[in-house]
Amino acid sequence: MRVLVTGHRGYIGTLLTPMLAEQGYDVVGLDTRLYDDCLIGADAPEIPTYEVDVRDVERDQLEGFDAIVHLAGLCNDPLGDLNPEITYDINHRGSARLARLAREAGVGRFLFSSSCSLYGAAGDTPIDESAPFNPVTPYGRSKGLAERDIAALASDDFSPTFLRNATAYGVSPRLRGDLVLNNLVGLAFNTGEVLIRSDGSPWRPLVHVEDIARAFVAALEAPREALHAKPFNVGITAENYQVRQVGDIVERVVPGSRVVYAAGGGPDARNYRVSCDAFPRAAPDFRPKWDVESGARELLDAFRSHDLSFDDLNGSRLMRIRHVLELIDSGELDQTLRRRHPGRPAALT
Ligand SMILES: NC(=O)c1ccc[n+]([C@@H]2O[C@H](COP(=O)([O-])OP(=O)(O)OC[C@H]3O[C@@H](n4cnc5c(N)ncnc54)[C@H](O)[C@@H]3O)[C@@H](O)[C@H]2O)c1
Repeated sequence: MRVLVTGHRGYIGTLLTPMLAEQGYDVVGLDTRLYDDCLIGADAPEIPTYEVDVRDVERDQLEGFDAIVHLAGLCNDPLGDLNPEITYDINHRGSARLARLAREAGVGRFLFSSSCSLYGAAGDTPIDESAPFNPVTPYGRSKGLAERDIAALASDDFSPTFLRNATAYGVSPRLRGDLVLNNLVGLAFNTGEVLIRSDGSPWRPLVHVEDIARAFVAALEAPREALHAKPFNVGITAENYQVRQVGDIVERVVPGSRVVYAAGGGPDARNYRVSCDAFPRAAPDFRPKWDVESGARELLDAFRSHDLSFDDLNGSRLMRIRHVLELIDSGELDQTLRRRHPGRPAALT
């Protein structure tokens, strides 16, 4: 099976493409390589790649693929807030356009990397995929709008599926420091303080980045009818935590650290607690391997072995927003977040 993975050089994609290759998939990437130098370890092996902005893809570039895994985009609230119109341009309209071209090119399956953040302010009661969208940020809204428009393209020959990932944690060669568990372990390791910026009450489902990658592989392996035009929360139902519980786990795992609440931290509007039971029923190959405690230990080992300092944690290698601002300042990205000088032609390299 020939699969195109967009955003394959990010936090998730760097783990996913070798996993797909190992399973025997013929994998091609598509990425503008925003974070190519944001590595803490060995990179994934290079694969044939379209170095093109997802907003500028052409239909003939999508011909011959059996499936597309669509990861490319702005990946969190701080980036989404930078310029909300650009966020909608990339995450919503860019994704819907990619799906439409994929359908026209005869691609049978389209796996969209959505997010539980589209549930937004959902309260403390556990919800499943039938819950209404209540996003509180442009990032969350962009994912819901993309789902709506892509779902409308479903047909006998085109099966979109929406993997609403929980908040990721864990080690990838392109580690992110802007995810709650990664950040708290990094802070605890460097300062001895597990600094919580809210009052600790918000609920979040958490999932290891490697298990997200496993979910995409399991979705490709699952029968098409089981996933056709459906959304699935991706995570583990037992792995919903209040942020204060995450802090307590980090305190336990990082020797000598203690939880500290930032002055003035109130409740966070983003608050959702989700059931993840539907996905493993539809995609029985999905067997997640991690929980928050084992993930915190893995992260601590990584901070130690890569000697990641407080400045590293807050710098542009690990913080997506910082890196993008640097690329704008240096003139490599224009204000629409397009590369000014694409590195290579848009043909497969
Ligand atoms: N990590 C999480 O917690 C999480 C949770 C839910 C959903 N997701 C979604 O999964 C996807 C991947 O997340 P990630 O954590 O790997 O993000 P990431 O920022 O590490 O990677 C994104 C990748 O997309 C590429 N990219 C960005 N804009 C592009 C564009 N316009 N054209 C082509 N390529 C572009 C970047 O170069 C990068 O390689 C995103 O869509 C994100 O919203 C992530």
